[in-house]
Amino acid sequence: MTKRVVLAYSGGLDTSVAVRWMIQEWGVEVVCVLVNVGQDIDSGESFDSIRERALAAGALDFVVVDARAEMAEEFCARAIAANARYEGKYPLVSALSRPVIVRHLVAQARKFNAQAVAHGCTGKGNDQVRFEVGTHALAPDLEVLAPARNWGMTRADSVDYAQKWDIPIGATKEKIYSIDENLWGRAIECGAIEDPWAEAPDEPYTLTRITATDPVELTLSFDRGVPTEIDGVAMELADLIATLNVRAGSTGFGRIDMVENRRVGIKSREVYECPAALALIGAHLELEDMVLERDVRHEKARLETRWAELVYDGMWFSPLKEALDAFVDETQRHVTGDVRLRFDAPGLMRVLGRRSPKALYDYGLATYDAADTFRHSDSEGFVRIYGLGVKTWAQRQGAKNSTPPGS
Ligand code: ARG
Repeated sequence: MTKRVVLAYSGGLDTSVAVRWMIQEWGVEVVCVLVNVGQDIDSGESFDSIRERALAAGALDFVVVDARAEMAEEFCARAIAANARYEGKYPLVSALSRPVIVRHLVAQARKFNAQAVAHGCTGKGNDQVRFEVGTHALAPDLEVLAPARNWGMTRADSVDYAQKWDIPIGATKEKIYSIDENLWGRAIECGAIEDPWAEAPDEPYTLTRITATDPVELTLSFDRGVPTEIDGVAMELADLIATLNVRAGSTGFGRIDMVENRRVGIKSREVYECPAALALIGAHLELEDMVLERDVRHEKARLETRWAELVYDGMWFSPLKEALDAFVDETQRHVTGDVRLRFDAPGLMRVLGRRSPKALYDYGLATYDAADTFRHSDSEGFVRIYGLGVKTWAQRQGAKNSTPPGS
């Protein structure tokens, strides 16, 4: 029986060449699956012309799955709840979409009775890890194939290969940057970006070009950790993210320029634009500051770092990640309220205000004016006992460096 493979297909050069290459070299049948996670297909190309390319390359079938709502409601929503930023910066744009794609690849593999899934990643990145570990977690019986890791072709070789086999590659021919995008933002690599000392070129950015003539102000509402409204207008999360990408992005907000540590041990200079992701995480954090009890807030911050590392490292489907999700879910029960944001060009976001019916912020306790309800005298005993250990230590053993320099 001929082996059947379900390929994560983008419509680009590499995955198109991968179809023909796997047929020729491995004698398999290939089903192409394009998972729509909100990427802007190359120059707005239609799914029909992408289908034609897949079939021209030799695919047995081509399937498009619209996973935008799922990406938003399950994956982005969890990332917001976990305030997820890998190495304190990167909101996991590509890392969030891979498990969505993996889940659909596995589902299609079952539907087409395939024995393997395949991806077009090279051996140097994180995405291969995410595809393969993710597939093994959901379907330990499926094989994962990585043609682009085996073929040893340069980009020019791939162009020749496509021409030889009459695969129409059109718009995908000239490429300086490697760009991966979805509704959570855009990840940009290669070209001049590979010199970490050189200023990142402006040209590959699309979401963060300044078009607003005035500052943008808006109010975001959250319900148990999930963003639900902009300025009082309820929206599906995918639409809310898209709207915010446009509104915040129009002031130039959302760019990140960083050197990051890939799972495979390579340091990589990358730039990102993710206005909605950064605005939503920033606002969500602000609301948590109002409603989370101090110890929960502090412990959550520690676990958030781990959550982001796990997801970056391809462990979306893993026991530790699921256990951390349970913790995060518990903390989100009262994260309900509004945050007012203001975006000033170029690229500045400020929180103007926050409010919540569940706030632990208590005006009577916080105020220094006549409305004060705090019992000041209680503090005397509290501080004495709190500092008792240090005082005893000072009396018996003394502090090092107790005199200022020069005295
Ligand atoms: N470095 C980022 C990550 O690992 C972005 C990867 C972008 N992927 C790509 N195929 N261009 O999440």
